[in-house]
Amino acid sequence: MIPPHKVDEILGAARIDEVIGEFVNLKRSGSNLKGLSPWSDEKTPSFMVSPAKGIFKDFSSGKGGNVVTFIMEHEHFTYPEALRWLAKRYNIEVEEEKPTPEQEEARNERESLYVINDFARNWFTQQMWETEEGQNIGLSYFKERGFKESAIQKFQLGYNPDDYQAFTNTAKSSGYKDEYLLATALVKEKNGRFYDGYKGRVIFPIHNLSGRVIGFGGRTLKADKNIPKYINSPENLVYDKSSSLYGLYFAKQSIAKEDNCFLVEGYTDVISFHQKSIENTVASSGTALTKEQIKLISRYSQNITLVYDGDKAGVKASLRGIDLILEQGMNVKVILLPDDHDPDSFSKEHDRIEIKEYLSKNAQDFIAFKAALLMQDAQGDPIKTNEVVHAMVNSIALIPDSILRSIYVNECSRLMSISESALISELNKSLRKNHKQSFRGNNRRDEDFAEAPIIKTDFNEQKKFDEDTIEHQERDILRIMINYHDRMFSLEDPLEDEEAEEINILEFMLDEIEGDDLRFETTAYKQLFDEISRVYDETEKFDQNFFIHHDLETIRSLFVDLMTFPYNLDNWERMEIMVVSEDQKLRRAVIESIYAYKSKRVERMIRENQLAMKDSSALGADPTPYLETQIKLETIKREINKTLGRTVLH
Ligand code: CTP
Ligand code: MN
Repeated sequence: MIPPHKVDEILGAARIDEVIGEFVNLKRSGSNLKGLSPWSDEKTPSFMVSPAKGIFKDFSSGKGGNVVTFIMEHEHFTYPEALRWLAKRYNIEVEEEKPTPEQEEARNERESLYVINDFARNWFTQQMWETEEGQNIGLSYFKERGFKESAIQKFQLGYNPDDYQAFTNTAKSSGYKDEYLLATALVKEKNGRFYDGYKGRVIFPIHNLSGRVIGFGGRTLKADKNIPKYINSPENLVYDKSSSLYGLYFAKQSIAKEDNCFLVEGYTDVISFHQKSIENTVASSGTALTKEQIKLISRYSQNITLVYDGDKAGVKASLRGIDLILEQGMNVKVILLPDDHDPDSFSKEHDRIEIKEYLSKNAQDFIAFKAALLMQDAQGDPIKTNEVVHAMVNSIALIPDSILRSIYVNECSRLMSISESALISELNKSLRKNHKQSFRGNNRRDEDFAEAPIIKTDFNEQKKFDEDTIEHQERDILRIMINYHDRMFSLEDPLEDEEAEEINILEFMLDEIEGDDLRFETTAYKQLFDEISRVYDETEKFDQNFFIHHDLETIRSLFVDLMTFPYNLDNWERMEIMVVSEDQKLRRAVIESIYAYKSKRVERMIRENQLAMKDSSALGADPTPYLETQIKLETIKREINKTLGRTVLH
C-alpha cells in the first residue's frame, strides 16, 4: 500500500498538462488545452485539459477525470499502478508502508512461488526445445496440432519429460524449498517420496496481467480415458483461479483496440485464435465464468463475445455466465461455430479473413440467442413457454441501463410473439424484486413515495413528456450539489425574514431527496447521487477529489462532466427584470431544482395511481386504498407547489 502522505505528495507534484502532454499533443485554447482524443481517430480536437481544475475531458469517448485516471485509462493501469507511474515520472520515492511480519511472510512466499514458476517455465521450454525427448514428443505434438513455432514461443509452451523425478530432482538440486514446490503441485509427495506432478505432459503456462507465470496447465499425450486430460495448478498465493483468465496478458491491448473480447473455452482455442491474429481472445479455462473475471475484461472493453462449439452442449450451462456479464452492465454476444467445431479446429480449416468474416456475420445478440435456444426447447408448450418468458425477463432485469432494457423488451416481444406490455409488466415485477433485495435492511421510509415503477406501463406515450424533463432535473440537482456543495442558503427569503436559518446546500439537497425516499431514475445519475450520499453519511464531508478519482469509470466521467458544465446561474437572468445578487440566484436555483423535480415526480405518481385504480376497478376490486393514496399525493403536491410558488413565481 502507498501511504496517504505519499499519495498527496504525488498528486501535488503531478501536473496534468505536463503528464497528458506526453501522450497527446496539446495546444492552448483560452484557459484550457486542446488536443486530438487518444481514444478515437478524430480529425478535429475534442480532447480538453483544464490545468486550473486539474481535469481532462474527452468529448469523443466521454472519458474524463484527473491526472491519475488519465494514466489509468490510457495505460490500463490500476489506481496504485498509476500512482507509481506518476511517482516515477516526478522522481518521488515510494517507500511502501512497513509490512507486518505476516505480510512479510506472505510476500516472501508469493515471491518464492513466482520464482519457482519462472524457473519451471524456463526449464519446461528448455526441455522441449533442447532435448531429444522434448522435440520428438512435446514439440512435435504441438506442431502436429498446427501450432506455429512463433505461437509456441509466444505462449511459452513446454514439456515435462516422462520420468518420475525429472523436474523434482532439478528443482531440489537448485535449492527450492519443498514447501513451495508442493504449493505449486509441480512436485508432489507420497510417503516421503517426491515426484513430478506433470510427468510426460505438455505445459501451458498461465500468466497474470503483468506477464508473470502464476500457474500451469499440463495436457496428457495419452489417449487413456482414466488419466485426467489436463492437470491444472492448485490455487495458492499467486494463483487465484476466479480472478485470472488464460491469455489475457497477451490479449489486453488488442481487446482495448478492438473494443471487444472473445471468450473461448480452453488453452488451445486461445492459442489458435491468436495464431490467426485474432488476439483479443481469452479463456476461462474449464471453470464457470466469475464476476472477477468479467471485471478484469471490463478494464479493457465493455463488450464480450462468447464463442461456442456448434453442438451447443455447454451453452445452456453458460447462460448463468451471460447473466453475470449483463449484471456488470456489459454487452454480450454469442457465436456458435458450425459443425461441432471448436475455435481451435475451426481456425485450422479457415484462414484469418474467413474466420473474421464468420465471427462478424454470426455474432448474435444474447437476447436473440437465449430466446431462440429456450423457445426451441419449449416447442410451443404453453407452460414451458411461460417459463422461458420469465427466464428472459429475469435476464433483462439485470441490465442496469433502462434504455437498453426497453430495447431488449421490444426485441423479445418480437422474437417470442408476446405483447410488449405483458413483458413490461413482468419486467417491472422482476425489477421491483431486485430493487427490494438491494434495499433490504435499509430503514428507508417507504410510505408516501412508494414503489414508482421503473418502466412505466404506458411506456411509449409518456416517454417524451416525462423522461426528458426528469432526466434534466436530476442532472441539474447533481450539478448544483457538486458545484455549490460548500455554500449556505436559506429556505426562507432572507430579505423578508432576517432570522432565516442558513443551511448547507449539499445537506439540504440530500435531505430533501432522501427524506422523501425519492430515488433518481436515470441510472447514471442515481449511481452518482447514491455515492455522494453514502460518502457524505460516512465522512460528513464532500471531497471533489474522491469522485474525480473514483474506482468506477461511470462515476468519474459523469462527475467531471458535471464539473465541466456547471449549473449556469445566469439562466435566471432571462426571467429577472431586477438584477439580483448571486446568493439570491443560487437560492432560487436550489429551491426550483428540488421542488420542480418533486412536483414532477408526484404528478406522475398521481397518474400512475389513477391508472392502477382503473385497472383494479375493471377487476371489481375495492378502490378505497387508491383513493386514499390519491388524497395523500394531492396534498403533497399542493405543499410542494406552495413552496415553489413562494420562491420562484412571486
Ligand atoms: N479442462 C481441464 N481439465 C480437463 C478438461 C478440460 O481443465 N480434464 C479445461 C482446460 O482449460 C481446457 C478447457 O477446459 O483448455 C477446454 O477443454 P477441452 O476442449 O477438452 O480442451 P482443449 O484445451 O481444447 O484441448 P484439446 O483440443 O487438446 O482437446
Ligand atoms: Mn479442444
